Amino acid sequence: MSTTTPQTMAYAFLKTCGMHPERIDLDASLDAFLDEMQKGLDGQPSSLAMIPAYVAPTDSIESGRKVIVIDAGGTNLRTALIHFNGKKLVTDQFQKTKMPGTQGEIDKDTFYNCFADLVLPMVEEADEIGFCFSYPAEILPDGDGRVISFTKEVKAHGVEGTLLGQELRAALAKKGVTKQIGVVVLNDTVTTLLTAQASYPTRKCGSYVGFILGTGSNTCYVEQNAHIGKLPALNEGAQIINCETGGFNRMPLGRADEILDKKSTRPGAALLEKMISGAYFGELVFHTLSLAMEAGILSELKIDRSLNTKAVNDFMIIPEDTGNVLGAALAEKSAKERELAYWIINGLLERAARLTAVNMAAAILKTGAGSNPMQPVSIGIDGTSYAGRYFYRERIEYYLYDMLRVKRGIYYDLITVENASLIGAAVAALGK
Ligand code: BGC
Repeated sequence: MSTTTPQTMAYAFLKTCGMHPERIDLDASLDAFLDEMQKGLDGQPSSLAMIPAYVAPTDSIESGRKVIVIDAGGTNLRTALIHFNGKKLVTDQFQKTKMPGTQGEIDKDTFYNCFADLVLPMVEEADEIGFCFSYPAEILPDGDGRVISFTKEVKAHGVEGTLLGQELRAALAKKGVTKQIGVVVLNDTVTTLLTAQASYPTRKCGSYVGFILGTGSNTCYVEQNAHIGKLPALNEGAQIINCETGGFNRMPLGRADEILDKKSTRPGAALLEKMISGAYFGELVFHTLSLAMEAGILSELKIDRSLNTKAVNDFMIIPEDTGNVLGAALAEKSAKERELAYWIINGLLERAARLTAVNMAAAILKTGAGSNPMQPVSIGIDGTSYAGRYFYRERIEYYLYDMLRVKRGIYYDLITVENASLIGAAVAALGK
């Protein structure tokens, strides 16, 4: 009697195309991650940019003063006028639109005009803008940020290399604004870290990490200035480092990873992000299922490269549901084929969970804190893919528990936050 089940077939197939979850060796990947972080801090070639944020965690938030916040995210652009009433966040003039550059390529003027138009009605009410920019940007000591590149397939021609604050002020000036408004640019992982900290002001933590797994993925943590080798002139103290962990590249790629990467806007870049984040996971599933079709273990499915992460997730949660493209395509197949597809996707989720846990563990370890369970490392977490993906956070937390608490005696608090971009950007702008 044959013992070949859809599960064993799926995992054997994942092995042949280099996509098997156990190809990710947890300990070796963790060492590689920590090594890559150090190289980035020392200014040596590294897949991790390790960008100093010039912002430190803060334990006081000014009450009553209004600031403008901009949240330029992977999908949406949101703006608001914010102040704190004691610890309570008060949001006025909230506006939401699509992030410029996500609906087709745009140029620099269109890009900055879009921000200026949203800020314009609030400009007389505040002196500072907290600008949460969810893309790699070099932060200058004065708080402005120079765009390094776009990720998550955003296309905005001529914006790379420009200073966000300076260009926004120039766009506002063209609309008649004479006031010199201050702009502090910060990454969304930094706002996540600050928001988690602000959510538990009396909690004594050993250190802080911010982690995002949504459309994109990234991590920041608190580092001692003395350890930032590429900035030798810094004074004592500590600051947040935006690691740009989506760029990590020291893990083995499989055939579907390579196909996806070649077809992407920036081949060779953001390799970890392409294996774990929401912008790519659906497409990665499509390429892997296509390989299974080529290998003859799955018959032709009516899906294409636009298969998105949500459809894949909906199928995994309720495989019988035909309300999504993947569920509908598989409904026409035999139960065995549906189960085979389920196990292939499950393997990719397991691999993504292993990589995500390594990424989070590396940032927690790099803080150097967490050996006292009374003062754990706080890790603020935001992003739909972490909490909403099929049986995902359970796997990540299982690996984290083993890697950190069991094997290394390191303690951490996982804190999921919402609206972090707005809160954290306001906290940073008020700290200016
Ligand atoms: C960007 C990061 C950002 C992350 C999460 C990535 O694509 O490079 O800067 O923090 O997405 O939004």
